[in-house]
Amino acid sequence: MISRRDFLKGVSGAIAATGPIFPWLAWAASDSVAMPGKDGMILRSYRFLDLEMPPEYANSWITPVQHFFVRNHMHEPSTLETGEWRLNIGGEVENPLSLSLADLGKIESHSVTNTLECAGNGRGFYQPSVPGVQWQKGAVGTGRFAGPRLKDLLQRARLKPTGKHVMFHGLDEVPGKVPPFIRSVPIEKAMDADTLVATQMNGDALTKHHGFPARALVPGWIGAASCKWLTELRVLDKEFDGNFMKPAYRMPNEPVKPEESVNPDVTHPLTALAVKSLIASPSDGATLTKHGIQIHGAAWAGEADIARVDISTDSGATWQSAQFGSDQAHYAWRLWSYNWRPTRAGDYVVMSRATDSQGRTQPPTAVWNPSGYLYNAIDRVKIHVQS
Ligand code: MTE
Repeated sequence: MISRRDFLKGVSGAIAATGPIFPWLAWAASDSVAMPGKDGMILRSYRFLDLEMPPEYANSWITPVQHFFVRNHMHEPSTLETGEWRLNIGGEVENPLSLSLADLGKIESHSVTNTLECAGNGRGFYQPSVPGVQWQKGAVGTGRFAGPRLKDLLQRARLKPTGKHVMFHGLDEVPGKVPPFIRSVPIEKAMDADTLVATQMNGDALTKHHGFPARALVPGWIGAASCKWLTELRVLDKEFDGNFMKPAYRMPNEPVKPEESVNPDVTHPLTALAVKSLIASPSDGATLTKHGIQIHGAAWAGEADIARVDISTDSGATWQSAQFGSDQAHYAWRLWSYNWRPTRAGDYVVMSRATDSQGRTQPPTAVWNPSGYLYNAIDRVKIHVQS
């Protein structure tokens, strides 16, 4: 078992070996980091590990674990003995359970390919800026998650009619006075056939960064719904009201101006993701020759399906349809591409704009909110074309 101290020693050794010096500050760093099993990621926070995927990696329908973003609100569990681990299920149930990892392994496993995105992805683009991890484009990735359905566990525990929400509690190590990472989801989403207690990601056991030995997988919803290092499921008669449900992860019911204060009573909890697209290539700032350029990337829409992706190569004056890749699954992003032959050399702004099955289209500017959630403006990169 690797302790957190050893792990951090390993990380600092790996960073030292690559040369750059990182500030020991949360939210400060943005250079690429060499970390065992996570090469090439952008380090957003070191105190509590937050790693962002460079947008160029959005070129694979399934994101390899190596390139999958990591978002931790606090320390990962420093030691975790698999043999001692239990998932306790209690609250509004007739038959409380305490399941070992072996018990979970005996329950039918279901697989869901899901695009997981942090609610704060893109926060770094909001103007005026808002506090929090300054994610840009890559707090998102698509994984193939597998494990028992949450509803099968709740049925075994004999859910009472009074059970209206399911609370997830992880094994994070809570520093000082920070409130623990506990959140809940409404019973309808908990009982959905695609909501999992996932033990696997991309065909292997979850890695520690992604919630080993088990995590919730609440497909189509903000990443925060998918609690890692699960140790307890508690069925409640109402929504959990701790810090990570209120005031965190809520949106004002009406748009607010940056100088206005927001009353938490006129906010609602974030649930499903917005419609969004990401240009994987060309990279922002790239210089290319004009002999045929393939523009490609990914688009996703939470619980909705992507209906179309349009590309503009003239700063939004005209738009053309992108082609979809063949891979698709309800909660997963679609890869798309567009072949472009520029007729002249010069500077260009290339844009991608997704539209989903609910008729939502990415706006030119995302709706500003004080916590910087759900940024989904039309994606854009500036490039230079040489003759
Ligand atoms: N679960 C626990 N226990 N602790 C956390 O800090 N972070 C959440 C969620 N589950 C978190 C958690 C957030 S905000 C996100 S976006 C996703 O995990 C990120 O999952 P990943 O790190 O596997 O990409």
